[in-house]
Amino acid sequence: RVLILDFGSQYTQLIARRVREAGVYCELHPCDMDAQAIRDFAPRGIILSGGPQSVHEAETPRADPLVFELGVPVFGICYGMQTMAAQLGGSVNAANHREYGYAQVRARGHSRLLRDIEDHTSEAGFGLLDVWMSHGDRVESLPEGFTVIAETDNAPLAGIADESRGFYGVQFHPEVTHTRQGKRIIERFVHDICGCASLWTPSNIIDDSIARIREQVGGDKVLLGLSGGVDSSVVAALLHRAIGDQLTCVFVDNGLLRLGEGDQVMRTFANHMGVKVIRVDAEERFLGRLKGVSDPEQKRKIIGNTFIEVFDDEASRIEDVKWLAQGTIYPDVIESAGAKTGKAKVIKSHHNVGGLPEEMNLSLVEPLRELFKDEVRKIGVELGLPSEMVYRHPFPGPGLGVRILGEVEKDYAETLRQADHIFIEELRAADLYDQVSQAFAVFLPVRSVGVVGDNRLYAHVIALRAVETIDFMTARWAHLPYDFLERVCLRIVNEVNGVSRVVYDITGKPPGTIEWE
Ligand code: XMP
Repeated sequence: RVLILDFGSQYTQLIARRVREAGVYCELHPCDMDAQAIRDFAPRGIILSGGPQSVHEAETPRADPLVFELGVPVFGICYGMQTMAAQLGGSVNAANHREYGYAQVRARGHSRLLRDIEDHTSEAGFGLLDVWMSHGDRVESLPEGFTVIAETDNAPLAGIADESRGFYGVQFHPEVTHTRQGKRIIERFVHDICGCASLWTPSNIIDDSIARIREQVGGDKVLLGLSGGVDSSVVAALLHRAIGDQLTCVFVDNGLLRLGEGDQVMRTFANHMGVKVIRVDAEERFLGRLKGVSDPEQKRKIIGNTFIEVFDDEASRIEDVKWLAQGTIYPDVIESAGAKTGKAKVIKSHHNVGGLPEEMNLSLVEPLRELFKDEVRKIGVELGLPSEMVYRHPFPGPGLGVRILGEVEKDYAETLRQADHIFIEELRAADLYDQVSQAFAVFLPVRSVGVVGDNRLYAHVIALRAVETIDFMTARWAHLPYDFLERVCLRIVNEVNGVSRVVYDITGKPPGTIEWE
């Protein structure tokens, strides 16, 4: 396994994903991980990430010296290369020209890291690589034992290596897809240089998880809040495979789910897979609590608290439960490790079942703690979940509650469910569903005039929202074809009662959010 020390680059998680994609297990730890912890981790190789700081400033982070004394290969990326150079006796300075974005790197000689990896060949016979750079500093002089393996016009030392010790550094970012050969470079490091085999595959992950779950819970009973979302669904499938009937799932239908969602969850888990699922029909309880409430944050709180109540009620009826399963995934764990810096532990709203673990003396079982979202999806498919479920767009915990603007009414939810269903069905039919990151309909409780047949209709408005995004922090509205939008609009106005007008949201994030509330 490979250890990645995080110096704070926005791309560090990508390094971990690329290493995992190469079939090698890795973990991400803060750059100040101490010597004992590093020794205990027993890495086959270490990667030092990029970071926002300047190595030549005082008090900037350094890797523990043990990193360079363990006798395992080390790969420094950007800041990671600079700190490696500085820590081993080279020097780093501010570059005259900062380099951000696309650059072309000349690979020199025959380093083990870059040998035969190139996008083009220069007239002089150098291998040329198209890479993504993002740095203001550069290595000026090499530490002892190092040679240059790559250069650009601005950074004569864009890649360095000490082949005898297996130390490599590159100034560019092989983890981002703009670096076209990045994947091969990372594979070269972990496979050929560290000698790690591709063992981290979905079926191995499943076998390994199952063994660990069995060891952890023994013959005890486990409870899981199943939402129908990707993470809790994969946890359900995995736990069922590991411990069968010791697992009981509670699925709360809050009346704010998408069309047919509750039935689909029951079909998949209870009927097909034989998982024990208790479906709680709590629509009235939720809608009752929401009556008269129009403030979005208030609505979120009510929905969250009611969920906890309903779940607690159900859970207290099941005897002898010892464990509560949660769909925590690796990015949540990394984020809460940032808790050191003052950030509170992040528990996803939908998995957050309040005081339950303490009150009922439940211990947590979190079988996805080490997995990235794409790995969770892959094992979901391998476990036999339908791919529509595994590759579904994200759906917020409060569900349609935040897609009905203002006060939530039962018939508004009904109207919205139908409109949303048509939109999604058409996206799938036009092969557009997977090209957008998230798409849904929003119910606007304002009335507008329309003419349907010979009648004037004074009815509600549906807004369609579709966005493209990588991280959901920023997003671009999806430029869906006009004739597609027209078709969706016609179907909604014709098929859904109470809708006279359909609009398409063309606001990016920022300034808009993805949801309307
Ligand atoms: P915004 O609207 O903030 O949404 O641009 C970003 C992503 O987060 C989802 N979202 C939520 N998810 N509970 C959730 O579990 C919430 O209260 C919530 N609000 C927004 C949203 O669907 C999008 O994917």
